[in-house]
Amino acid sequence: MPSSTNSVPLLPGATLGVLGGGQLGRMFCMAARNMGYHTVVLDPDVNSPAAGVADHHLQADYTDVDSLAKMASMCDAITTEFENVPAESLKFLSSHKPVHPSAEAVAIARHRIQEKDYARNSGLNPAPYALIITAADFDAAIAVTGLPGIIKTTTLGYDGKGQQIINDKSQLESAFNDLGQVECVLEKKMDLALEISVLLARNVEGEVACYPPAENEHVNGILHKSIVPARINKDIAEKARQQAIGLANKINYVGVLAVEFFITSDDQLIFNEMAPRPHNSGHYTMDASVVSQFEQQVRVICGLTPGDARLTSPVVMINLLGDLWPVNWLNCLADPALKLHLYGKHEARAGRKMGHFNLLSEDIGQALEAADKIFNKLKS
Ligand SMILES: Nc1ncnc2c1ncn2[C@@H]1O[C@H](COP(=O)(O)OP(=O)(O)O)[C@@H](O)[C@H]1O
Ligand SMILES: [Mg+2]
Repeated sequence: MPSSTNSVPLLPGATLGVLGGGQLGRMFCMAARNMGYHTVVLDPDVNSPAAGVADHHLQADYTDVDSLAKMASMCDAITTEFENVPAESLKFLSSHKPVHPSAEAVAIARHRIQEKDYARNSGLNPAPYALIITAADFDAAIAVTGLPGIIKTTTLGYDGKGQQIINDKSQLESAFNDLGQVECVLEKKMDLALEISVLLARNVEGEVACYPPAENEHVNGILHKSIVPARINKDIAEKARQQAIGLANKINYVGVLAVEFFITSDDQLIFNEMAPRPHNSGHYTMDASVVSQFEQQVRVICGLTPGDARLTSPVVMINLLGDLWPVNWLNCLADPALKLHLYGKHEARAGRKMGHFNLLSEDIGQALEAADKIFNKLKS
């Protein structure tokens, strides 16, 4: 069945749907409502963060055909907040209404080998990698990547889950067993100087708005902090932006796309992975960009021109994980340049993303200092 496409832009008053009601779905709904659109969220969890702010919550599984049909009938355009939504569901919806990003683009971003293949074919530079389906693939894979390496499940990994560092073949064997002998990718462990991400929005006409790279720090595999502008030289920043745009053009991507890169200690730019949606490292755009990543998602799925991605202030974003609970909110809000965002999650668990703050300053060094100072005083 041919996919529906936007023939005319959808204007305020239209209804937008999102698959997934986590924090990304919630912030999408808030942006959409601000701009005068109605929202529908599909999520099986009665307490999903987005359900509290959407006009309608379809509480059902992502494969529930009746609910998908209802969503299609209620919405003028549909998007997703996560890449693991079943491809069949996206295809079903797109046979009725415009769906961005497409099921095909989401399928590429969901699969580590496919995304690396696409990146390489688009002129980007992933770390050497090889597919592992059975133990018989170990030797050939190590021959491609060398050691140390990192084994990752090809699908369903996030926040550092589903991956392990490998120093020799016996570790590869035990890691592969730990991961359940599912299809994996082995990649070379690179010597990282720092990590960056490039966020962009692209519409059906191929118009692109691309943000400056964010510099990202992870703790225990989870994003801890994003620093914008990234403290990298202009040439490598521009190269990363051009590569991200090139990749989006190559796959004719429509939606918000985040591309993660490594910068190695010898200044190579390495493609890591992409996310077919707004990204945690783009949360700073809510307060320090002309148009936020969630407004971009609204704009491009509605067939409008992407918004201005210009940075309006140096900014540091810090994630608030459940580990910090109960938080000393007085200390948190003591800094007048801090913008707090909480996701309305009822239960704080270790590693669970509960919210984030953006700290703005005229100078990135000062923003970092102030953000770290607040972070260190958060635990009651
Ligand atoms: N090939 C690699 N070399 C060095 N570090 C890596 C490599 N792959 C991943 N990492 C580290 O692990 C983190 C998580 O890996 P990533 O592939 O981005 O998985 P996730 O989907 O969990 O974000 C990266 O941000 C980086 O710090
Ligand atoms: Mg990642």
